Amino acid sequence: MTQTLDTLNTAFALPGALQFADVAPGLPVAEISTPLASARIALQGGQVLTWQPAGQQPVLWVSKAAVFEPGKGVRGGVPVCWPWFGALPGKATHGFVRTMMWQVRSSELDAAGQVLLRLGISDDVATRALWDHAFDLELLVTVGSTLTMALTTRNTGNATFTITQALHTYFCTGNILQTTVQGLDGTSYLDKVQNFAVCQQSGDVSFSGETDRIYTDTTADSQIQDTAGGRTIRIAKQGSASTVVWNPWPEKEKTMADMATGEYQQMLCVETCNAGPDEMTIAGGGTHTLAATISVP
Ligand code: BG6
Repeated sequence: MTQTLDTLNTAFALPGALQFADVAPGLPVAEISTPLASARIALQGGQVLTWQPAGQQPVLWVSKAAVFEPGKGVRGGVPVCWPWFGALPGKATHGFVRTMMWQVRSSELDAAGQVLLRLGISDDVATRALWDHAFDLELLVTVGSTLTMALTTRNTGNATFTITQALHTYFCTGNILQTTVQGLDGTSYLDKVQNFAVCQQSGDVSFSGETDRIYTDTTADSQIQDTAGGRTIRIAKQGSASTVVWNPWPEKEKTMADMATGEYQQMLCVETCNAGPDEMTIAGGGTHTLAATISVP
């Protein structure tokens, strides 16, 4: 069932806080504006595109060259990677839900002034052709002075399935050379840049070249120390055993048509995941929630 702008606004708009508009033909976006924050959330991919708490610069990064077209992922914000993270032979990288249309299920303004938007997608003929399992996937986004994204996987069939997944969060930073990620000291990571070699993190993560790492067995919060931007961004997580840290650096950036030259200097991804060996197995009837809360203390 397609939700048109009219039906979305009739059923789910919140006067003065939430309305729906097309970012491009056929691509509806929830536009949220409250005294606490502004945000935009695309129904395609269930993708949070922007979040800006009051008094702050934007926290999420979106490329100036991002493409807004049906069936194409947007370079920035928070793509949902599911039911697999990364590349699988012959399959779309990072799964299929990031380019599919999700449904709005509910909207609410809570007593604290936060907007809660619930989006969902479940299996149909198109998803069965790509991944033959019965599922329901729901993303609850809470937009306030913090941003929480809770992604709940429900196995609606009888057979067990296994997934990997990510809230693939792109952050703005003032200058990547003066940016560090704290909270991963002493953990192991798979280094994609070195053909998935297993490495040990010592101290904070800093950036001096292409960085593409799956930190495994990591459940602690991370913090992005953005020295040039003069702020710290905290990422707290639940139901997540891995953290991916990614910056393409210029060579890889050049290969991506939806990234403008030099933009790598003002962005990084710190992704809340279950990825690499940290797979989630969900029995028939079972559920799992992967959640990230982002704050700028
Ligand atoms: C990261 C991966 O999560 O996503 C990288 O670790 C990948 O390897 C990046 O390049 C972007 O992926 P995509 O499919 O959105 O270009």
